[in-house]
Amino acid sequence: MSETVVFPQNRTCPYHPPTAYEPLRAGRPLSRVSLFDGRSVWIVTGHAEARALLADGRLSADRQNAAFPAPTPRFAGLRDRRTALIGVDDPEHNVQRRMLIPGFTLKRTAALRPRIQETVDRLIDAMVARGPRAELVGAFALPVPSMVICDVLGVPYEDHEFFEEQSRRLLRGPEMADVEDARARINAYLAELIERKRSDPGEGLLDELVGRHLVAGETDTDELVSLAAVLLIAGHETTANMISLGTFTLLRHPEQLAELREDPSLLPAAVEELMRFLSIADGMLRVATEDIEVGGVTVRADDGVVFSTSVINRDEAVFERPDVLDWHRPARHHLGFGFGVHQCLGQNLARAEMEIALGTLFARLPGLRLAAEPDRIPFKPGDTIQGMVELPVAW
Ligand code: HEM
Repeated sequence: MSETVVFPQNRTCPYHPPTAYEPLRAGRPLSRVSLFDGRSVWIVTGHAEARALLADGRLSADRQNAAFPAPTPRFAGLRDRRTALIGVDDPEHNVQRRMLIPGFTLKRTAALRPRIQETVDRLIDAMVARGPRAELVGAFALPVPSMVICDVLGVPYEDHEFFEEQSRRLLRGPEMADVEDARARINAYLAELIERKRSDPGEGLLDELVGRHLVAGETDTDELVSLAAVLLIAGHETTANMISLGTFTLLRHPEQLAELREDPSLLPAAVEELMRFLSIADGMLRVATEDIEVGGVTVRADDGVVFSTSVINRDEAVFERPDVLDWHRPARHHLGFGFGVHQCLGQNLARAEMEIALGTLFARLPGLRLAAEPDRIPFKPGDTIQGMVELPVAW
């Protein structure tokens, strides 16, 4: 039966796995699904098997590999382009990742907390001044990570609208020409910024990379541009969607919200559980380079492999009553940030942003509520990072 499921599917409820994945949930840890182009690939839905495979060097993240699975026509159209870090394998991947690690340590992230808090406070002040209603994605969920990642990298925030617009076109542009044009604009902007930083260094991670690695000839402008572009895009969309969908989910779970308001020390656990429950990056992709025995099947060399995070994170063998949102469960071993060498580099930063953004929002606006019928609030389609398109709220 699972042979007939096409991947990816749209969710029916923005915070639950697509109902079309029910047969996969009930089935074996690896099944077959079809992609839009009719190609049959493996889908991994078991938690243990997903961890084993994501840690297995015989699976490749190289999107230029002709056998790499493409979940959408847009993705297929970009295949000939190299994507730094997230789309390359070790040892090259490791070299790129090591350049970036100093920018994302726990210590660095802890030092950013006051700035994140200031940003969040300022955005809520502005909402309150214009209130008592707002469209939360535009007024809050997107600007928080956007300001933070610009700050981390040393990209002038004045240019954030340009970036948000280009990354929207890059991820969802209607035509391939749009996608190409957006990518070219982002790259040209970053190349110019990197050139300026050579002679006039500032405080951000990009400035450090220019000073430490570019000047020393260990990297070139093209590589830095593509690393910066990955960070900018990965840092924006994901966290923004967690803030918007996290808010929607909390407003739809009043008991859990009340508990959180009563005991804010639950916030870190709540963020972890929301990461598990919402699984917004629902479809990591790989291709096998050798035959691999796993979960009672053989994944053959050149087979495409997709990981359904939303189903993996509700594996009953690991998470009791997985469809229940529960701040008291051990949720930390969810795969919402991936696993293995490509595990999310920005996860500490993302956790800090989510804690501060959601904690402050609900503390400062005790009357926060949805300002439209929940069923009518649009959410993202299944072939993108999951989240709310708009979130009308009042307080
Ligand atoms: C809640 C928000 C976030 C979620 C759900 C998320 C999710 C993920 C996932 C699932 C992966 C693994 C992809 C794969 O294995 O194919 C990943 C990788 C990555 N993420 Fe995040 N991410 C978030 C926030 C961030 C932020 C804020 C940044 C940066 C500032 C970031 C930067 C990256 C980078 C650079 C990688 C690639 C790492 C590598 O290939 O070595 N992410 N993220």
